[in-house]
Amino acid sequence: MAGAPEHLVDIAGLERAFVLELFAEADRLRAARGTPRAPRPLAGKTAALVFHKPSLRTRVSFTVGMHELGGDAVDLGAAEVSEHGRESVEDVAHVLSGMVDLVVVRTFSHQLVQRLASHATIPVINALTDHSHPCQILADLYTLWRAGRDLDKITIAWVGDGNNVLHSWLEASTLFGFQLRVAVPDGFEPDAGLYLDAEVRAKGTVKRVRDPYEAVRGADMIYTDTWTSMGQEQEAEWRRIAFSGYTVDERMMAAAHPDAVFMHCLPAHRGEEVTDSVIDGPQSVVVEQAENRLHLQKALMVALAGGSWNRVPRKTRARKMAATVAVGTV
Ligand code: CP
Ligand code: NVA
Repeated sequence: MAGAPEHLVDIAGLERAFVLELFAEADRLRAARGTPRAPRPLAGKTAALVFHKPSLRTRVSFTVGMHELGGDAVDLGAAEVSEHGRESVEDVAHVLSGMVDLVVVRTFSHQLVQRLASHATIPVINALTDHSHPCQILADLYTLWRAGRDLDKITIAWVGDGNNVLHSWLEASTLFGFQLRVAVPDGFEPDAGLYLDAEVRAKGTVKRVRDPYEAVRGADMIYTDTWTSMGQEQEAEWRRIAFSGYTVDERMMAAAHPDAVFMHCLPAHRGEEVTDSVIDGPQSVVVEQAENRLHLQKALMVALAGGSWNRVPRKTRARKMAATVAVGTV
């Protein structure tokens, strides 16, 4: 696929044309799914799935996606892959590169994914870190695109924590022209460097506001996420206090455009960041969002690992292997 990166560590650096091609490929795979013409471009290939945090959507969509594309998946955890574990991250990257065709990693440390990507000769996909969640936002953009929303024109309101999911939205704002209004309480801002970079590169389409109502007024989509991300459980109680006033409820939804949709990456904490009436209401697209993880990530896996030889150019791979063998024989 033209413009495909070697790895998907973050949305930053992706080409807009590649993202649009992913959407088209996801649609093709969706249409063929379960029919005799369903393609199996990953037949004979295996993905290593490394999960250090719980997951329903991401784990299932990558596992099922791999099977539907004709390939296999092997589950690994912290016992096998970690920053301070049984063996070095570099050794893990080299060994997996010789045995599997793709690595999907959900972990705490963003640096772990970056290190795996810089040492592996096979594609590495970030399946969520404390810093970002690129697969989620690619699937969310696909959900909006499928619904016929103009990604260059809509207004998106983020109401809640300045977390990993928001970071990926901020990066996406530099690829498309949508307006992104961010309402986060003081003390829960996104990473300052990433925010500033997005603000500059998105050329004025990113704006932070204090009042959630200012963010949602006339917006085409309201997005929220848990106030307490995985790994922050000890802060849950005081976060509930700090985020008071940030619950997306019917009144807040009514302040958006009448055709606005409600989005949430899930899992949701009903009664905290969103009420039952909104998440179960007619404007909510959370179930479609979740299913679209499968279609979009299948397209992503085909783009990154679907070639007859993986994305890393043959010469680079041969050089890396030769260097490894040379060092090994000294
Ligand atoms: N949205 C999402 O990534 O869900 P899981 O944590 O269940 O994978
Ligand atoms: N911000 C959440 C996203 C879960 C998909 C977390 O990191 O727990």
